[in-house]
Amino acid sequence: MSFFRLKAQFQKVASLSIVGVLFALAGCEQAAPEPELTQAPVATEVIAEPTEATEGVEEAEPTPTAVPRGFPYQNADLSVDERVEDLLGRMSLDEKIGQMTLVEKDSISPADVSRFGIGSILSGGGGAPLDNSPEGWYEMVSTYQEAAIATELQIPLLYGVDAVHGHNNVIGATIFPHNIGLGATQNADLVADIARATALESLATGIHWDYAPVLAVPQDIRWGRTYEGYGEQTELVTELSTAFLLGLQGVDGTSDLAHPATMLGTPKHFVGDGGTEWGSSTTDRYMIDQGVTNVDEETLRRIHLPPYPAVIEAGAMSIMASYSSWGGMKMHAQDYLMNDVLKDELGFEGFIVSDWKAIDQIDNDYYTSVVASINAGVDLNMVPTNYKRFINTMQTAVREEDISEERIDDAVRRLLRVKFELGLFENPYGDPELIETVGSDEHRELARQAVRESLVLLQNRDGALPLSKSAETIFVSGIGADDIGIQSGGWTIGWQGVGDEDTPGTTVLEGIEQAVDSDTRVVYDRFGKFAREIDEDGNPEKADIGIVVVGERPYAEGRGDSDDLDINPTLVARMAERADKVVVIILSGRPMIIGESLPFADAWVAAWLPGTEANGISDVLFGDYPFTGKTTFSWPRSIDQLPFDFENLPETGCDAPLFQYGYGLSVDDVQAVEILDCDQEQ
Ligand code: GLC
Repeated sequence: MSFFRLKAQFQKVASLSIVGVLFALAGCEQAAPEPELTQAPVATEVIAEPTEATEGVEEAEPTPTAVPRGFPYQNADLSVDERVEDLLGRMSLDEKIGQMTLVEKDSISPADVSRFGIGSILSGGGGAPLDNSPEGWYEMVSTYQEAAIATELQIPLLYGVDAVHGHNNVIGATIFPHNIGLGATQNADLVADIARATALESLATGIHWDYAPVLAVPQDIRWGRTYEGYGEQTELVTELSTAFLLGLQGVDGTSDLAHPATMLGTPKHFVGDGGTEWGSSTTDRYMIDQGVTNVDEETLRRIHLPPYPAVIEAGAMSIMASYSSWGGMKMHAQDYLMNDVLKDELGFEGFIVSDWKAIDQIDNDYYTSVVASINAGVDLNMVPTNYKRFINTMQTAVREEDISEERIDDAVRRLLRVKFELGLFENPYGDPELIETVGSDEHRELARQAVRESLVLLQNRDGALPLSKSAETIFVSGIGADDIGIQSGGWTIGWQGVGDEDTPGTTVLEGIEQAVDSDTRVVYDRFGKFAREIDEDGNPEKADIGIVVVGERPYAEGRGDSDDLDINPTLVARMAERADKVVVIILSGRPMIIGESLPFADAWVAAWLPGTEANGISDVLFGDYPFTGKTTFSWPRSIDQLPFDFENLPETGCDAPLFQYGYGLSVDDVQAVEILDCDQEQ
């Protein structure tokens, strides 16, 4: 991976270099000045830079929900529609615009949340409080919630995070395998259980809104977000994303947003995010992320659209628009696809939320962008910083009749409906009683099961697996063998996935050490340079078993766009000299190019990005559990094969993938993978 540039000055973490990992995990404690009890916000002053959050003010203890004023909308016995209409009728234009504004938590003080009647706050990737503990999160979220409820109409906040593989911003939370690994399990019930666990750990911190699941159907694994997808085939993505949403939003297989153990999901990114072309990124930083989905409407509807009617049927009430473009237009300005298809044809009654600052990408003129996007169907703008500019722009657009009051009311109705259905007016603070579920043994065991079921056995030459727990000596190498951050991947504590030395979990190495007999010697050297003790024949000592961990450093989004997917062959070759039996574990967000190295090792296992419970890997390596995983991405022999033409993919020969979609061995399969000399053939 090349050096990375800073993406933003917020919680989105600073960059990492190839050889070193320097991460700024500093959070910014949002001070909680006593929110002024003000009248309805009137943001008419000229837009300035966002208010600097004040520092160091004593954290306010969350107060109970403000005393209801006895308005009908505050009567939980009325229907949601009755409550929506009553509240909407009491709102000023500025209060309505405030509800359409989603701000990143470091960009606004609680006082401004009150002042402008902000409807939603988010923590971007890594957006932790300085005290990155469940308790610290609860305090932070509650402080914002208290500020929202301190307004005239006491409309509670929706606070959102990317809990995409567990409540992954929080140190101590259970970090589950990323979706590429869950796809390999093909186990919808397991995915639903993981979603339920994620909901509990999120609600424990006061959070009701998750920007998950991803519905992308990644068609080119060079995309840095491949691992956020369940697989390259639509049917599997539909099945597992729907299972995840139902797990998040319900406890019995149906959505029930009012249930105290459920939270709002956000199927994303609508639509065709996984179909962009290499080299088409509309940003100057990435290659394929935020690019152009250059397919006809029939293909868009056949490959990328089907997960959306399924999740709408399952109760989706929030959908995030995609950064990508289709039909020569940014998705965020796609009136046809958002209004006509998603809202009218598919009957979506929830709200469309923009992606991070995505509206700004539509046109060089901000006013034009805002008008285009809101009229095209975006109901909530993830601004995420300069909320005063957005609010001012919206006021002007309504005054100029470029955005109608009907459109504003439609958007606010959708937003209020969700807040009422979530029960936020009655229970705005989540449930701190759930804090003991965060990182609980039960959740970690669930994650360990998911790791086990996600493993794909690619080769098992001469029946190398399962390994013996009573081997005399086991050598282990590779920097990923002992690093929670690497095994967890992106979206872990930091946006780009830093893990953290305080992140509890079990590394691959620790799993091995725990699995073997007490008198088995496990020797770890990250570079595979084991002391060359000489045996009685004058040869360097050989281990019975050598385990090499290779793969990718963590990344998220476009920073992971890459056409260099070769693993490091040196480590494998080096181990082959020092061990009688060699096993390679691949920790990566996608299939890697391994062809040249295959013959150097007896067994190859794709472990994807397992998260904190990598003892699930040793559970299977040493035979306590079987290999059951199947790859849900066609595995290329060479990068030159990409993008695959899935309609015409041969089963054999040099144009075929090295491993087909759905490939995965059991330990009874003992053949070596046939290596074709494709250079010759071409
Ligand atoms: C990001 C991602 C989106 C995420 C959002 C908030 O840029 O595209 O998936 O939910 O910002 O972090």
